[in-house]
Amino acid sequence: MNGHFIVFEGGEGCGKSTQAEMLATKIGGLLTRQPGGTAIGGALRAILLDPLNSEMSPRAEALLMAADRAQHADEIIRPTLDGGRHVVCDRYTYSSVAYQGFGRQLDPERIRAISAWGTGELWPDLVVLLDLEPERAHERLTGDRDRFEQADTEFHRRVRDGFLTQAADDPDRWVVVDAAQSVEAVNAQVWAAVSARLDGVQPVDPDE
Ligand code: TYD
Repeated sequence: MNGHFIVFEGGEGCGKSTQAEMLATKIGGLLTRQPGGTAIGGALRAILLDPLNSEMSPRAEALLMAADRAQHADEIIRPTLDGGRHVVCDRYTYSSVAYQGFGRQLDPERIRAISAWGTGELWPDLVVLLDLEPERAHERLTGDRDRFEQADTEFHRRVRDGFLTQAADDPDRWVVVDAAQSVEAVNAQVWAAVSARLDGVQPVDPDE
C-alpha cells in the first residue's frame, strides 16, 4: 500500500510547522518542507529567502519554487509514498499559487501548471489550511524577517485570499482550520479531519 500524502498550507506565523510536526510524529510519517526539502532545494531556499535578493523577478521566483518542488517530488516524496510511508509536507504547489499567483500577481493557472508539470502531477490526498488574518500572524513572527515576511500587508492579504480560493474550489481535498485557536485545539481539528478523510492513517501509538 502506498503512503498517504498530507500537505499543510497557510501564511507565515500560522503555526503550520508545529502542526505538521505533531501530525508526522503521531502517524510515523516523514516530515518535510518546501522550499528546502532536499540538498538542491536547500540551496534554492537560501536564494529565495535572502532579503539581499530584492531584485529577484517574480517569474524567476516562481520557477525557482517550482524547481525546488520538482526535485523534492522525485527525490523524496514519490519514493517515500511508494515505499508505503506517509508524507507530511509543510507547503506545496498551493503556496506557489497563493504567493506567486495571488501575491505577486502572476497568472495562478499558469503557476499551478508549472508545478503540476514539475511534480509529474503528484497531488496530495489532503490539504490542511491553517487560516489566520495577516495582522494576527504578523504579531507571532520572531527574529529577522525573510524576503516574504518583509512584504506588505496587502501582499499577505492577497496570499490569504489565494489559499481560501483554492480551498473553496476543491473542498474534497481541503480542510480549513481556524489557526487563531490554541495549539491543542488546532491539533484536535487537524486529527479529526485526517482520521475522518484518510482511510488507513493511524497513530503509531494507539494509546495516544
Ligand atoms: P518558511 O520559513 O518555510 O516559511 P514558513 O515557516 O512561514 O512556512 O519560508 C518559506 C517562504 O517561502 C514563505 O514565506 C512562503 C514562501 N513560499 C512561496 O512564496 N512560494 C512557494 O511555493 C513556497 C513553497 C513558499
